[in-house]
Amino acid sequence: MAVSLTGRHFLKLLDFTPEEIRYLLDLSADLKAKKHAGEPHRYLEGKNVALIFEKTSTRTRCAFEVGAADLGMHAVYLDPSASQIGKKESIADTARVLGRMFDGIEYRGYGQERVEELAEYAGVPVWNGLTTEFHPTQMIADVLTMEEEFGRDGMRGRKVTFMGDAGNNVGNSLMVVCAKLGIDFCACGPAEQMPDAQLVETCREVAAQTGATITLTPDVDEGVGGASVVYTDIWVSMGESADLWGERIRLLSPYQVTTELMAKAAPDAIFMHCLPSFHDRKTTIGEEVFQKFGLPELEVTDEVFEGPRSRVFDEAENRLHSIKAVMLATLR
Ligand code: CP
Ligand code: NVA
Repeated sequence: MAVSLTGRHFLKLLDFTPEEIRYLLDLSADLKAKKHAGEPHRYLEGKNVALIFEKTSTRTRCAFEVGAADLGMHAVYLDPSASQIGKKESIADTARVLGRMFDGIEYRGYGQERVEELAEYAGVPVWNGLTTEFHPTQMIADVLTMEEEFGRDGMRGRKVTFMGDAGNNVGNSLMVVCAKLGIDFCACGPAEQMPDAQLVETCREVAAQTGATITLTPDVDEGVGGASVVYTDIWVSMGESADLWGERIRLLSPYQVTTELMAKAAPDAIFMHCLPSFHDRKTTIGEEVFQKFGLPELEVTDEVFEGPRSRVFDEAENRLHSIKAVMLATLR
């Protein structure tokens, strides 16, 4: 049966079948080709979307705003200080108000239960633009980027390794998407920063059906050996205390992605990162961490970030095409 996602929420990838994820990947590639060819695709002319951001963003916000405009829609951005959400108005009330005015709602913020509650009450599709637990739109962009390197469906049976803070929203989501698509996933980091045991179990059940494997290891050689994709993310995520930097540096420094570490991966391995990244001292936080702890580069070295195996800016561009696919698939 043909896949249709019309009217669906996009809250986490566990809610989607492999066929539905495949559909979103193909739609993303199609929208990318149209954008590059300058072919108009205003399929959602006249619709309106609300973009709620309780945490900051560059890529996700811009992808939703530009994507909405490309599809013929109008987007309204609500930043943490510009709306009543949470302070004067509950999530449920906000959802019922915005659901009367908008055709779809994006939410970036804290606990997954907040976006789930928004979806319960909105009456229109709700899209998760990042929560503490998951970052599902990122994953469509990421697998699209991997397939641009290794071919459509070319990731099946290959190994993707997430280095470092593997229990964060991006590590969790990467584990889920790999399990769903039959891609071998490895979380390589200290026991303290591994994905939640319950989520690992759920992903292993999914993996048993798709042929994927899920490995958790503190051993760098085992983790990176044979990997086609080496992926990392920042060591302290949005919403976490800056006081954690010292502890995270102690725990995660052995998992920094360096040229030597990339040499242990498959010869054709690529490097990926959701961004933003602390690969130099050219940011306020990067400089502060350097002044306090003496590390000029954190989760990845500048050499790898800027090197020939890095695909981070293709990945960032693909946020636009994949977020457009999510909006189009659920609103058409
Ligand atoms: N990767 C990502 O979600 O980036 P932003 O925080 O800039 O949206
Ligand atoms: N783990 C990061 C991802 C940013 C896109 C964070 O939540 O801050």
